Amino acid sequence: MPLIINVIRIKHHLYNHVVYSDSEMSKRALDFYQEMNQRRSLREFSNREVAKSIISSIIQTASTSPSGAHKQPWKFCAVSSPEIKRKIRKAAELEEEENYRNRMSDEWKSDLEKMATDAHKPFLETAPWLIVVFKEVYGLDSLGRRHMHYYVNESVGIVCGFLLAAIHNAGLVALTHTPSPMNFLTEVLYEIHFVMTEKISGIFEV
Ligand SMILES: Cc1cc2nc3c(=O)[nH]c(=O)nc-3n(C[C@H](O)[C@H](O)[C@H](O)COP(=O)(O)O)c2cc1C
Repeated sequence: MPLIINVIRIKHHLYNHVVYSDSEMSKRALDFYQEMNQRRSLREFSNREVAKSIISSIIQTASTSPSGAHKQPWKFCAVSSPEIKRKIRKAAELEEEENYRNRMSDEWKSDLEKMATDAHKPFLETAPWLIVVFKEVYGLDSLGRRHMHYYVNESVGIVCGFLLAAIHNAGLVALTHTPSPMNFLTEVLYEIHFVMTEKISGIFEV
């Protein structure tokens, strides 16, 4: 039973610190480095099904991330519907064609050469799940009043890091994908998700 203490009317749980010896800490630090060093961004995916419960646990892990004033200014939208994925791919590829043709600088394109990426994004349909991460620029209470969120970009960046680590830990792979601008995605997802206070931060194909 966790010990709960009231501090300034807010319930605080007593932190249970597990203490390791120096050698255990060294081993854990090295083991984790070796595990995380296996993670790679992949651009080809198997279409083998991944259970929704696994994606839920991964998102729960990501949500343990710290955030400015604990506002948790993020939302996740996990898409597995072939129809919606098809729409997202079609819209993303249109946007990417314009990026590669007119929007990206020569330096950017040259930096991307080693990744052999182009405007084709078949993985948006093949990957069993697309996890879209939204950042909530501000909060809304039940009366529709706006509330401040703090360090939104930093908090959402950290939550994405936790998300990638959780995906890797589960034995899955991901690509961080940031087609820009992402308005097309808001439009496609508007049909299934009411977006008002949120901006899309990135898509994670899993
Ligand atoms: C913020 C961010 C945006 C990225 N956007 C894209 C993207 O739009 N398309 C893509 O193919 N890879 C994208 N990547 C993946 C990077 O190319 C990749 O992380 C980098 O090459 C290092 O490879 P690794 O993840 O396998 O270590 C992005 C990564 C980050 C962190």
